[in-house]
Amino acid sequence: MDSNWTWIAENAPLLAAYLPLITALLVIVVTLLGVQRLLVILTRTTGSTPPAKNTTRFDKGEHPLSEFDEELPDESTAPPLHSADTLHIPYCPERLSEAEMLSRSKAYYEEMNKRRSVREFSTDPVPLEVIENIVRMAGTSPSGAHCEPWTFVVVKDSKIKSQIREIVEQEEYTNYDRRMGDKWVSDLKFLNTDHDKQYLEEAPYLIIVMKQQYHLGDNGVRYSHYYYEISTAIAAGFLLTAIHNAGLVTVTTTPLNAGGALRDLLGRPANEKVMLLLPVGYPAGDAKVPGVTRKPLEEIMALK
Ligand SMILES: Cc1cc2nc3c(=O)[nH]c(=O)nc-3n(C[C@H](O)[C@H](O)[C@H](O)COP(=O)(O)O)c2cc1C
Repeated sequence: MDSNWTWIAENAPLLAAYLPLITALLVIVVTLLGVQRLLVILTRTTGSTPPAKNTTRFDKGEHPLSEFDEELPDESTAPPLHSADTLHIPYCPERLSEAEMLSRSKAYYEEMNKRRSVREFSTDPVPLEVIENIVRMAGTSPSGAHCEPWTFVVVKDSKIKSQIREIVEQEEYTNYDRRMGDKWVSDLKFLNTDHDKQYLEEAPYLIIVMKQQYHLGDNGVRYSHYYYEISTAIAAGFLLTAIHNAGLVTVTTTPLNAGGALRDLLGRPANEKVMLLLPVGYPAGDAKVPGVTRKPLEEIMALK
């Protein structure tokens, strides 16, 4: 040992000078690693350490705010959107007899089963009040924490409709040509659709469904909207039902890649994004729809 030490001192004087320090550092590092390992084992066995705030309580992608594409400021000091003192009021809707339930549910299904997506429209006008009622009905939809994260932009002005058509057709041309790819385009063949969207000028109204990621309160605080995508999609479902119920038609469209330009054109704020574009009106006299059928109950319902 002594001869080793002499050899090091002679051949590597710098190493010899720092060896005690290096040894001490190594001992500290090994001890810390050991303590950390011990803590991990203890935590696993006792389960006593609560999960860190805002981390492990949701699986990846399951947090209700995980859809946000930007960092959110801390809203923890903002007052809640709805007061904790909100009065709970009686709710006693009429209870139907089983016979009536059966008859009403069947009739409603049969009526809704007549709904079809239509891409050829009549230019006949529709009273604005009908559209207002349809939008009112969509606004009765449930929403996460009652945030009501939607705006329905109703376009009646023919100049704006033409501008919308121009934006959408330009993007759709590229969508069909390059973005969607052969498989997607071939899966859509049965619809007989392409970039041409004449109905965007023919239909008396276009309804653009906007989803709101958040809203700014009067106090300047930014309120995040929980589950804003699902909530707005459900409201859009209500809207489709209301359109059909009023004897009108639409086609659910997702203007791929045109959302930003449409939002700018419509002068909508940064907290909103385009979700759907719906032409609304009467079908053209010679309108045709693909002769597809719907899955039977056995395929869409699982009873356990
Ligand atoms: C999310 C979603 C996106 C759709 N996007 C389009 C679209 O961009 N263009 C179109 O012509 N139809 C679109 N459709 C309509 C579907 O093609 C249509 O609902 C489907 O073929 C079934 O026909 P039906 O609505 O008559 O039952 C879309 C439907 C949904 C639900």
